[in-house]
Amino acid sequence: ARLDMTETFHHISFPGHIHTQDSLNYALHFQFRDRDTVIATYPKSGTTWMQEIVTLVKNRGDPQLSKTVPNWARAPWLEQHYSAKVLEATQGDRIITTHLPYNLLSSALQGSKAKVIYVARNPKDVAVSYYHFHKMAKFLPEPNSFDEFLDSFLEGSVSYGSWFDHVKGWTSQAGVLANGLYISYEEMWLSLAAENWKERRPKDMLAFGMTSEIYLRERMLRDLQGSMERISSFLHCPLVGDELTNSLRHCSFSSMSDNAMVNYTQIPKEIMDHSKGKFMRKGKIGDWRNTFTEEQIGIFDTVYSYQMKDCPLTFMWE
Ligand code: PPS
Repeated sequence: ARLDMTETFHHISFPGHIHTQDSLNYALHFQFRDRDTVIATYPKSGTTWMQEIVTLVKNRGDPQLSKTVPNWARAPWLEQHYSAKVLEATQGDRIITTHLPYNLLSSALQGSKAKVIYVARNPKDVAVSYYHFHKMAKFLPEPNSFDEFLDSFLEGSVSYGSWFDHVKGWTSQAGVLANGLYISYEEMWLSLAAENWKERRPKDMLAFGMTSEIYLRERMLRDLQGSMERISSFLHCPLVGDELTNSLRHCSFSSMSDNAMVNYTQIPKEIMDHSKGKFMRKGKIGDWRNTFTEEQIGIFDTVYSYQMKDCPLTFMWE
């Protein structure tokens, strides 16, 4: 049985079992504190990864909190019904997650010194990841075929609304460009996950405009820790020596896949059916190539160029 009641709020549908009109309104009128760190993402774009990174950075690479407290309790989703209780009880630094589009949070964020980090991911990989997540998450509608799901994704009728509106809103000047940190899943993947470099193929390098293996190797050495350093200095928590290496180790895909506090294996099967897939599914970049047909690529690219034509940011996956 599916628990897929939806809560419609400002023309966007949200999974009904974790969102209510009250919880969504609470988010809209939230009082941010200056010491808050806000992680904003469209679903399946690296939310859990960033929650882990920020937790590790704030704890100077000590994994104690990451390994004992579930991500949703240490970095609650502002719009979900339990967040008020958790957030109001937290003293000091808070990590707050949100999937809300920028226009719904802009007035609450106005004038606040909270630090905002926005993570975006190649929308083709997002669509594939979201499709698989719909199969296991009982609070989302049954997705049927990928083709059907892709239509809803491109049209923006999926939960949390349109990917295009989300990215355009948050990456606007007012969103994160002026004072926040914008980072892509792909940059994090290239720079954080040392283990990933071994399996990269020429096809992927070309997709990122990298032409030779030598260039790639040099870049790898230079950038290995680049994203972690960017994030930690943005949070005014620069890491040194072991703090950095420990943070990198604990936020790797393999370490997070084994961490019950982030892999959702503790969630009852009525809510997430683990026989239908894993939350930590593949953790790759460019894996959409194994799912999209030529026709789907054509349709996607047409919608993408139309939707993104006025977007000033150039994304790495273009
Ligand atoms: S959610 O439901 O919105 O909170 O999902 P989200 O965390 O945004 O996205 C889940 C995808 O992120 C992948 N993931 C990672 N990739 C690389 N490294 C690390 N450490 C990592 N942690 C999570 C996860 O596997 C999902 O992507 P797919 O493509 O489905 O594997």
